[in-house]
Amino acid sequence: KLMKTVLASAVAAVGILAGGAQAADMTIKFSHVVAENTPKGKMARKFEELAEAAVPGLDVQVFPNSQLYDDSRVLEAMLLGDVQIAAPSLSKFQRFTNKLQVFDLPFLFDDMAAVDRFQQSEAGQSLLNSMEDKGLIGLGYLHNGMKQFSANEPILTPEDAAGKKFRIQTSDILAAQFEAVDAIPVKKPFSEVFTLLQTKAIDGAENPWSNLYSKKFFEVQDYVTESNHGVLDYLVVTSASFWNGLEPDVRDKLNKAMNEAIAYGNEQSADLAARDRQAIIDDEGTKVVQMSAEQRQAWVEAEKPVWSEFEDDIGRDLIDAALKANQ
Ligand code: LMR
Repeated sequence: KLMKTVLASAVAAVGILAGGAQAADMTIKFSHVVAENTPKGKMARKFEELAEAAVPGLDVQVFPNSQLYDDSRVLEAMLLGDVQIAAPSLSKFQRFTNKLQVFDLPFLFDDMAAVDRFQQSEAGQSLLNSMEDKGLIGLGYLHNGMKQFSANEPILTPEDAAGKKFRIQTSDILAAQFEAVDAIPVKKPFSEVFTLLQTKAIDGAENPWSNLYSKKFFEVQDYVTESNHGVLDYLVVTSASFWNGLEPDVRDKLNKAMNEAIAYGNEQSADLAARDRQAIIDDEGTKVVQMSAEQRQAWVEAEKPVWSEFEDDIGRDLIDAALKANQ
């Protein structure tokens, strides 16, 4: 009799365990294009750690370095349910919304503190939900940093850029930014940038310090201009059907893990930018140059038509809200 009872409770215990594991058995794929030692790379690993600790049976699989998808395909893959989390740069959502293009306007934000203030403002937060009708939910903003020009000659004035080919992300504003100074923008995936620069198929690019360093772009460019002319930040996204289909309790836990991971990534971003900037300055093969105040002003003037061209698409209110964050 005793034996029977022991056996019965053992079976019950196994049953509960198995049932519990089954309920939470789930894989989340997080696909991104940058290296591990970057704000996004670190944030993804932090999410993996926190989410797996919070949700028993959950397996978060992080795919860095465009291993799984590049940014031209990842959102489509997400809508098909092949990947659950991604964090493309804010420049890569043009097919889904015009609003996020506000972040691409050249010389809009004074610095990353202003970018952060705008993202946290009511206007900035409202953009997180701007693609829900297209099946995407924004879980939060993640920083990388301000962009710098690079080329094999110093880019100081708008004339220095004229006639040169620059790789850009898939954004019409970024194309207009280079066209405004008679340069030639070339839309290419991030995974091709190193080879394009190395083979001189293109002359230059624009990247934050973290990407310039972690992907070794600086090794195939003689000059980096500390231009801080725009921002490269990310929107962490998930698919609405995946996210809304989660059990509320699991969704809450994942949301909490994501918020913590983003806060961690954002904390790291300034340190990584400073560290990678210094490493590039210290590199013998690359010269880091500065624009004078007049040279910078010439750029600002040259880029004004880009603002007018995209004002209607983005909305004047949103541009003003972003500008307000500089104060
Ligand atoms: C780029 O394509 O240059 C960036 O969006 C890559 C990234 O994710 O930082």
